[in-house]
Amino acid sequence: MALVPGIELLRRAYEEGYAVGSFNINNMEILQAILQAAEEEKSPVMIQTSQGAIKYAGAAYLAAMVKAGAEQVSVPVALHLDHGDDWKVALQCLRYGWTSLMYDGSHLPLEENIRETRRVVEMAHAVGVSVEGELGRISGVEEQVAVSEREAFFTDPEEAEIFVRETGVDYLAVSIGTAHGLYKGKPDLDFPRLEEIQRRVKIPIVLHGGSGVPEDQIKKAISLGVAKINIDTELRQAFLKTMREKLEENPNQLDPRKVLGPGRDAMVAVVKEKMRLFGSSGKAR
Ligand code: 13P
Repeated sequence: MALVPGIELLRRAYEEGYAVGSFNINNMEILQAILQAAEEEKSPVMIQTSQGAIKYAGAAYLAAMVKAGAEQVSVPVALHLDHGDDWKVALQCLRYGWTSLMYDGSHLPLEENIRETRRVVEMAHAVGVSVEGELGRISGVEEQVAVSEREAFFTDPEEAEIFVRETGVDYLAVSIGTAHGLYKGKPDLDFPRLEEIQRRVKIPIVLHGGSGVPEDQIKKAISLGVAKINIDTELRQAFLKTMREKLEENPNQLDPRKVLGPGRDAMVAVVKEKMRLFGSSGKAR
């Protein structure tokens, strides 16, 4: 299928009470693993690229690869820019055919975040591309801070209502206790805050830092309006662990496919498990 706008996938998920996984890619094997899993699970899926991935592989390369992959599967696929913070990169993505953009102005004061996000929304909506905004800071796990300080970065529900109204974003990334990377302890999501945000914004909510969040918390978050869940670290782990094992088994290996192929298979299993947990399996239409 041709790539579809992000909001098409998320509106349905939001209305029907499941979440679409948005998985980060940097190369062909990761993309193939995600699409194979989506096809086998009959699940809609989002493929996302960070600005770092674009720097590494190139926008033209990534877009061509994702379009070619999407055409070979029967499930709907959206291509999303993860954590864009530069309208020039957003423009580049629009030119190459991304169907969903994140503008992350969460480090900016509210007024500035609104102004910059709105600029990207106007540009993207003009060509039918949906936009994710972020309010509240989602830290890396390495940036562990005291709980009181941590909560100071959580999304304020009242600000969220203003932000969504003023920017026109299609979906909103919130900070409610998740972090990117590996968790040191068990994450403890702030569900009353999520409920209050959802009551005020009434649009699909995005959960970043999905790797390592316990199943019961994922399910509860989906029941409160989370319709997009980002997964990166768990894929990297599966890919690298398997490749490392294969290289250790045969340090003189001269065929990269003998290492990359098993790495790819290990990622398929992870993605399928997430799709079942998120409730998106069987939802492709
Ligand atoms: P994880 O690496 O924790 O899965 O988070 C991914 C993410 O949120 C990308 O934006």
